[in-house]
Amino acid sequence: MELLFIQSQEHPKLPIAELKAVIECENIEGTLDIITEGLVILRDISDENLEKYYKLFVRRLGYTHEVHEVISKFKYESLEEEILKVNWQEYIKDNFAVRLKRFSSDIDTVGCEREVGSLILSNVNDTDIKVKLENPNSLVRLVAYQDNIFLAIERFKLNKKHFEEIKPHKRPFFYPGSMSPKLARCMVNLSRVCEGDLVLDPFCGTGGILIEAGLIGCKVAGSDVNWKMKNGTAINLEYCGIENYRTFNVDVRELKMYEKVDSVVTDPPYGISTSTGDIDGDEIFNEFFHSIYSNMKDDAFLCMASPHYVDLQPMIDEVGFQLMEQYHIKMHRSLTRVISVIKKKD
Ligand SMILES: C[S@@+](CC[C@H](N)C(=O)[O-])C[C@H]1O[C@@H](n2cnc3c(N)ncnc32)[C@H](O)[C@@H]1O
Repeated sequence: MELLFIQSQEHPKLPIAELKAVIECENIEGTLDIITEGLVILRDISDENLEKYYKLFVRRLGYTHEVHEVISKFKYESLEEEILKVNWQEYIKDNFAVRLKRFSSDIDTVGCEREVGSLILSNVNDTDIKVKLENPNSLVRLVAYQDNIFLAIERFKLNKKHFEEIKPHKRPFFYPGSMSPKLARCMVNLSRVCEGDLVLDPFCGTGGILIEAGLIGCKVAGSDVNWKMKNGTAINLEYCGIENYRTFNVDVRELKMYEKVDSVVTDPPYGISTSTGDIDGDEIFNEFFHSIYSNMKDDAFLCMASPHYVDLQPMIDEVGFQLMEQYHIKMHRSLTRVISVIKKKD
């Protein structure tokens, strides 16, 4: 069986890197096929794993918009024949809408959706199945890539509203400088954690990263040199219904965790707008690497953001870490944010 992913195209590499990280840490079996940017298929999934995997993906992924179960694949010219082959009662519950998403294709979207809708209705004419364009029970998803059509059904939805509703300025405790919830979620996923694992953010600020880790079922710990931030993180975590958390008011240089953590996900301070606890320039990164190493389990990952002008590599080497992956996000003309995935040396 196959799952189809429609991904965000706001970054060329992060959505697929996030998906690969989740596949890796959840031990998901299947073959990944990247059709084009924004369209990915996971093939060779066994019947018994499909629902479990599907639910994991919709619960975890940040940079994926939709996940669908593939019904069939065919050339556009066989559309009618292929739609009529399907036993739609198996897939549709009471009402449905058909939606077409195009990648490098000039198929007429509205015309195609209407045609497929009528074909489905003609095939189920003795039942109560109806078309319902707003909030249908069943979404029939057509994806056109060149002249290929993927016919799919949406069984479970990603909670897209969450990423809108939890934007930094909508939380009870706000302070400028928190990253977008989608990037925070992606970074948590890149750190290869699973439900029940302990995630630490030693520069927790308003808690944006920990919220995302908590929402995928991790235990979370946050610390910050500023007690207002430490308290603010707790307020925001409570607001999001996250109960399994601890917060500390501590300078990263003094950090000694009560237990070694499964991952560190963090956005250290830099530039003029954030306080660094009286540490100069790049030195905060160096101090951070030294201090965090002994707080991490041997197989733990560290996923962190940094500005492009800080050269992390010599610091990573000195401490005994290894750089696994790196992604660049252009923020504005003079700042690129670098997302690094780091591990202890094997
Ligand atoms: C860029 S902000 C983190 C933003 C955070 N991801 C959020 O969602 O709000 C950096 C945080 O590091 C804290 N900080 C600065 N120097 C520190 C130090 N030496 N030890 C621990 N925390 C420090 C600041 O108080 C600030 O809250």
